[in-house]
Amino acid sequence: MAFDIEMIKKVYDNMTSRVDEARKIVGRPLTLTEKILYNHLWEGKPTQAFTRGTDYVDFAPDRVACQDATAQMALLQFMHAGKPKVAVPTTVHCDHLIQAKVGAEKDLARAKTQSNEVFDFLSSVSNKYGIGFWKPGAGIIHQVVLENYAFPGGMMIGTDSHTVNAGGLGMVAIGVGGADAVDVMSGMAWELKFPKLIGVKLTGKLSGWTAPKDVILKVAGILTVKGGTGAIVEYFGEGAIAMSCTGKGTICNMGAEIGATTSTFGYDDSMGRYLRATNRADVADAADKIAPYLTGDPEVYAEPEKYFDQVIEINLSELEPHLNGPFTPDLATPISKMKEEAIKNDWPLQIQVGLIGSCTNSSYEDISRAASLARQVADKKLKTKAQFTINPGSETIRYTIERDGFIDTFEKIGATVFANACGPCIGMWDREGAEKEERNTIVHSFNRNFSKRADGNPNTLAFVGSPELVTAMAIAGDLGFNPLTDTLINEDGEEVRLEEPTGDELPPNGFDVVDPGFQAPAHDGSNIVVSVNPDSERLQLLAPFAPWDGKNITGAKLLIKAFGKCTTDHISMAGPWLRFRGHLDNISNNMLIGAINAFNQKPNTVKNQLTGIYDTVPSVARSYKAAGVPSVVVGDHNYGEGSSREHAAMEPRFLGVKAVLVKSFARIHETNLKKQGMLGLTFANEADYDKIQEDDTINFLDLLEFAPEKQLTLEFVHADGTTDVIMANHTYNEGQIGWFVAGSALNLIAAEA
Ligand code: F3S
Repeated sequence: MAFDIEMIKKVYDNMTSRVDEARKIVGRPLTLTEKILYNHLWEGKPTQAFTRGTDYVDFAPDRVACQDATAQMALLQFMHAGKPKVAVPTTVHCDHLIQAKVGAEKDLARAKTQSNEVFDFLSSVSNKYGIGFWKPGAGIIHQVVLENYAFPGGMMIGTDSHTVNAGGLGMVAIGVGGADAVDVMSGMAWELKFPKLIGVKLTGKLSGWTAPKDVILKVAGILTVKGGTGAIVEYFGEGAIAMSCTGKGTICNMGAEIGATTSTFGYDDSMGRYLRATNRADVADAADKIAPYLTGDPEVYAEPEKYFDQVIEINLSELEPHLNGPFTPDLATPISKMKEEAIKNDWPLQIQVGLIGSCTNSSYEDISRAASLARQVADKKLKTKAQFTINPGSETIRYTIERDGFIDTFEKIGATVFANACGPCIGMWDREGAEKEERNTIVHSFNRNFSKRADGNPNTLAFVGSPELVTAMAIAGDLGFNPLTDTLINEDGEEVRLEEPTGDELPPNGFDVVDPGFQAPAHDGSNIVVSVNPDSERLQLLAPFAPWDGKNITGAKLLIKAFGKCTTDHISMAGPWLRFRGHLDNISNNMLIGAINAFNQKPNTVKNQLTGIYDTVPSVARSYKAAGVPSVVVGDHNYGEGSSREHAAMEPRFLGVKAVLVKSFARIHETNLKKQGMLGLTFANEADYDKIQEDDTINFLDLLEFAPEKQLTLEFVHADGTTDVIMANHTYNEGQIGWFVAGSALNLIAAEA
């Protein structure tokens, strides 16, 4: 489990000379983000300045982390790449496959029975290939990474969008698809478009009811779910320095909700304190020695407008607690306006459940502040009106908060403690009565609140807030309650007010744990056999995708013209489908079933042009595939936003979709399409989206001239014989065109192994 201090020291040894060199080459002071990026160039020493938002650059990340749902496909792909061991330190974390129902112990036991085959597979592949394995119940990937592996100035990738959480410890940590992770695990460079930089200056100081979560809820309201696309967000200022390291983690975690590549903070005392509290004094000592290199240059923070592409300033002393939602994390409402907004929008005022924890808000500080409110329930003779649940982020956190009496406090207000796992945050919540699909309101301290995300009920309105606000709202059971100004009526009929939350940044008696749930890999794994049952419905060894035949794609049928929001949840739904993450054929039965068909405004109902009959999207795709007819998907803005799951790209590839043509892409999904050998294209003229008709047949006219920076021409033949010729943009460079030609990036790796 031990982090690799020698690896970290090497990163720091290089950092001083490389940053000095980069400063000379770039010819100006550097942001922290630039320092980290220039110290992780694949080529080593910097030799050129890169243009933000334009240049594709090869990087050498220090670590890889995978969660169990995405690790299955990543490891299946890694096995296919033919390497004996992972090239960089890698860990696998079992957290997504544990369904929350009655409580930690029973839920965990049930998950181990239900997903035994998958956990065994991940454990044995990890053991064989030198990967650290965190067993089910050990914790949620990002909390475990923050506690054990993240380090200031480091760079990591992870097969989960919220890998960005490690920015709280001053990393550049980026969520990627499994295919990217396979590249790095195989010892190859990892490519990223040099990001734009957004600076967020935090002035003032958090106090009272306001928490770090409110910073990112406010930022999400300003930037929206698209505002961070292609950018790294760097936080700085007195407000940043005064904040806890884990609070910084929360802010970085939800950077995924604004589409940012990642977010980060400069090294400061809060990070040193956290490193020391989590048994990493040697990392803190090493970081202290080069501290100025682990934060932005002073000139940058003094005049941020000169060095960032965009600057936002937030005064923490004036920041109000927020609740964001429903259905999108950027609909930000200050708590003082919530009652008015809820009534105006007809949001159900009665709160059914308050849920705290998750990878976003599981710190000791979060839990202790929430517990300070829970304690007031008994003290003030109140009754908690809503149900209340907790998902601790790790066994270390769970053990420590139990030792310090917080679990007991929560149980006294009727809380259910779920396993140290994702549970309700990823739809793995067997919520009683959810199948009735009643309209209802929940509040949680997680990060995402898309439709059906928590309990599968499209009529659950989920609002995101800090753990302390969620706790107060659950006690009141009323979405219109503002704990800053409103009172509650207690059992004696008296009006009482909840006192401001209080807590400790770190446990006064230190963290503790008996069994953290870690399995170290075998020193020599060459004799370990990984077996996959050919009859398994959950795991399937991969067959390579066919290379491009060198011809124009012609006669392709429009599979679906997706209307409006189409996230990776719409493309490859989570919840019950998580069980098929390691079986491409079976999971493909969820392809695009959440997307809305622009022609009838219905989900999962599209016209099969071969039969004229409306059917589900996967059925129609399979019908085209069986007939040898290629297909094309058309979409709206920010297509594929949400998560890094490459299934959202592999499934269409597997079912014969050749191209996805949209108004704009979310970055990770666009890369995933490229990795799987597909064409991810954008309308040169957005208005052309309206020209696409239900019975269209699509012909590519100049795919043979596919080249960087060169548009592609597509002919749409309509049912009445008329045609529209539409120009499509793309962002493929030479190497990525090579993936398309080879059939996938993995095909190229396997050929070179
Ligand atoms: Fe898990 Fe939700 Fe975090 S799914 S990794 S707890 S975002």
